[in-house]
Amino acid sequence: MSLVLRDMISDGVCLVTINRPDKLNAMNIDVANELIATFNDINSNDEIKCVILTGSGDRAFSAGADISYMSKITADESVVYAKLGQKVTNTIEHTRQPVIAAVNGFALGGGCEVAMSCDIRIASEKARLGQPEVTIGIPPGWGGTQRLMRLVGIAHAKDMVYTGRMVKADEALSMGLVNRVVSHDDLMDEVKRVADMICKNSSMGVQMSKIAMNNGRNSDLDTGLSIELLVWRNCFTHDDRTTMMNAFLSK
Ligand code: COA
Repeated sequence: MSLVLRDMISDGVCLVTINRPDKLNAMNIDVANELIATFNDINSNDEIKCVILTGSGDRAFSAGADISYMSKITADESVVYAKLGQKVTNTIEHTRQPVIAAVNGFALGGGCEVAMSCDIRIASEKARLGQPEVTIGIPPGWGGTQRLMRLVGIAHAKDMVYTGRMVKADEALSMGLVNRVVSHDDLMDEVKRVADMICKNSSMGVQMSKIAMNNGRNSDLDTGLSIELLVWRNCFTHDDRTTMMNAFLSK
């Protein structure tokens, strides 16, 4: 049985599901490697315009890195595992198509870190997000000490990381950790609605915007604006601009 499922659910929309429900979709080495392979493949697929990432079953997006594995490894092996986890989050973050996390339950530790590497997070009201690593003797290691504070600010990030507490969906919304919260039953419909809206737009325009925002976020303003000029110019060499602007002018 594949640990990461992949399915085209409508024109342009690919659903990726972390599939280890008996362990609340905890990500062992095999899950991590399958996620990397899946997103690398998606990255080179022109048919895919938007990706939805979720967790199998009704309880968890992902309960994080695999604690039973981490309980046994050496410090050197832990570095290899953290690098693998950071590769998962970097690969998702740099996938050229937008990735929407459908946070359908627990998103803890690596699960929260993977959700944060997505472009948009839509949460079920049952979702619980957190970085509980300090409760088991370690800090976040799949990007959580860095991406969380960039998303929600350093004060909220330190509160979450130092206490290790689980944040309910409404609190996650209030601090900007998720974009919106919907009822559990409506989650996939809402995520698909957003994905379909993205798919109707120019993939070139969307993907160039992603590059500019992702790279600009870690740069000073002048560097970010230079990146914006490059991606802007790129779009003026693409058919979408001509076709879509002419369609607007002739309607
Ligand atoms: N790694 C490995 N296994 C995990 C796991 C993880 N991160 N999270 C859950 N599991 C496993 C449990 O060991 C259990 O397996 P078992 O049925 O073979 O005993 C199964 O998933 C179900 O989890 P369980 O703890 O029994 O469910 P629960 O409803 O009582 O609690 C959580 C749910 C999410 C609160 C709890 O599983 C939890 O705290 N998980 C760890 C979260 C965490 O610290 N993540 C960060 C890791 S760095």
